[in-house]
Amino acid sequence: MKILLTYSSKTGNTEKVAEAIKDIIPEDFHFCKVQDAPSPEEFDVILIGFWVDRAMPDRDALEYMQKIKGKKVGIFATLGAYPDSPHGRESMQNARDIVKENEIIGDFICQGKIDEKLVEMFKSLPDNHPHAITEEKLKRYEIASRHPNEEDFERAKHIFKLAFKSLAVEV
Ligand SMILES: Cc1cc2nc3c(=O)[nH]c(=O)nc-3n(C[C@H](O)[C@H](O)[C@H](O)COP(=O)(O)O)c2cc1C
Repeated sequence: MKILLTYSSKTGNTEKVAEAIKDIIPEDFHFCKVQDAPSPEEFDVILIGFWVDRAMPDRDALEYMQKIKGKKVGIFATLGAYPDSPHGRESMQNARDIVKENEIIGDFICQGKIDEKLVEMFKSLPDNHPHAITEEKLKRYEIASRHPNEEDFERAKHIFKLAFKSLAVEV
């Protein structure tokens, strides 16, 4: 079974989740950034990670995901919103839809620290702007700044460990 673990990460959050998932892959695998990933055709199982941009996988991950057909696919992601919010659920559903011509063997999503530059930009917006900062958003950014954490890594590992078990691979 040929396995690819690949990810896209602008500020390092999704990369940390990818690094954690490495621990539980039961066989040899190819590990790289999605920008360097070989054709999906070369693999049987593909675990792909992305950061959320407007409720979608970021562009680099999206382009790769659109090429994956007929494989066993695991998806993992980080985002600034709460994973169990409507936006969080929509983001994962959108990702699942993009790879729907595959067997999805597991998915994982958690918060990830939002780029300080983006937060500063939000703070500079006028009050009537849709992205203007509010107390609620500041609280969410503060919570996001503590993710991904050890608990997130353990949950991601657990989900994909089960996924590989379901493929009847010795873990
Ligand atoms: C340009 C940009 C757009 C973003 N858009 C969203 C978004 O639509 N929804 C969201 O929940 N988080 C959004 N975020 C937050 C990132 O998804 C989050 O911080 C993620 O953990 C970044 O992952 P990375 O460190 O692997 O790049 C955005 C961040 C940036 C920089």
